[in-house]
Amino acid sequence: MLEHELSFDVPSEKPAAPLRVRPRRLRRSANLRDLVRETELATRDFVYPLFVVHGQDVREEISSMPDVFHLSLDQLKKEIAEISALHLRGVLLFGLPAAKDEWGSEDFADDGIVQEAVRVCKAVNPELIVMTDVCMCQYTSHGHCGIIRDGVIDNDLTLEYLARVAVSHATAGADVVAPSAMMDGQVGAIRAALDTNNFSDVAILAYAAKFASAFYGPFREAADSPPKFGDRRQYQMDPANAREALREVELDLEQGADMIMIKPALAYLDIIRQTRDAFNAPLAAYNVSGEYAMVKAAARNGWLDEKKVTLELLTSIKRAGANFILTYHAKQVARWLAEMS
Ligand code: PBG
Repeated sequence: MLEHELSFDVPSEKPAAPLRVRPRRLRRSANLRDLVRETELATRDFVYPLFVVHGQDVREEISSMPDVFHLSLDQLKKEIAEISALHLRGVLLFGLPAAKDEWGSEDFADDGIVQEAVRVCKAVNPELIVMTDVCMCQYTSHGHCGIIRDGVIDNDLTLEYLARVAVSHATAGADVVAPSAMMDGQVGAIRAALDTNNFSDVAILAYAAKFASAFYGPFREAADSPPKFGDRRQYQMDPANAREALREVELDLEQGADMIMIKPALAYLDIIRQTRDAFNAPLAAYNVSGEYAMVKAAARNGWLDEKKVTLELLTSIKRAGANFILTYHAKQVARWLAEMS
């Protein structure tokens, strides 16, 4: 007889089929859980985005992105040494130009901030994979990702500019160029320009499906790149569309993309999974600024455990099918993984 009488009748007969399968058996200990884990994060999975600026001794924290900084080239040197010591394999460079104009001239200048930054990265660590974002928005006075003619973004004219930007990044030593302007034909135009300029070894990471997302908010503050009029919905994708994302991926692969990217990551895990299932090219996901800022803000309020939540989110992106992840958490995660191993 139980000490506490149950308040309902327990059937005296045994259940018809005894439980043969008990998934909990493999959750009993840490070693068993380790044995059957399907997805595991590694430091090599992460690429760290960096914001480089003109000037000397600049290391300014971006207010909406705690622990992420605007760095001048001298500070970048130290940062690259630190990143390399953490065994991170790659960085993605964004630049803030000294001046903006209608054509984004500094974007393709030999001594532009990104071109100089590429050289600094390679001087400190020639093995580091240096990727560059290829877009116009940080460099144009109107803040759009393309060149404006007669009041509209001229897709095909923009292609010539993007190609020029990519070639100038390759000339500086970039290993990978990452076109993010969402202009039709940008991958093909860049591939052709790289090839005719003897950069057939420079790879293209195509922001293939880049959605018109409110999660880019903190980045636009960091990169000083919000459009001065209108928004980006005429070129970035409608968040409602998955089939269209697959078409974008297909087009970029046809044009010669070596790797494809889905962006943002967390609200688009289904797109990552569908892309992984439908295509065999290496797949990246961009865990964007707003996704980072949400975690940071909640953690700073003591509402979430930053380490646990971040590792869970990044695991979900990898589980969805991403081969590598661009994330502002990269350095922190590399440290956590080193502590845990
Ligand atoms: C440039 C670009 C953007 C991001 C990466 N490249 C901003 C935008 O399209 O407005 C966003 C990155 C982030 O939010 O972390 N076009």
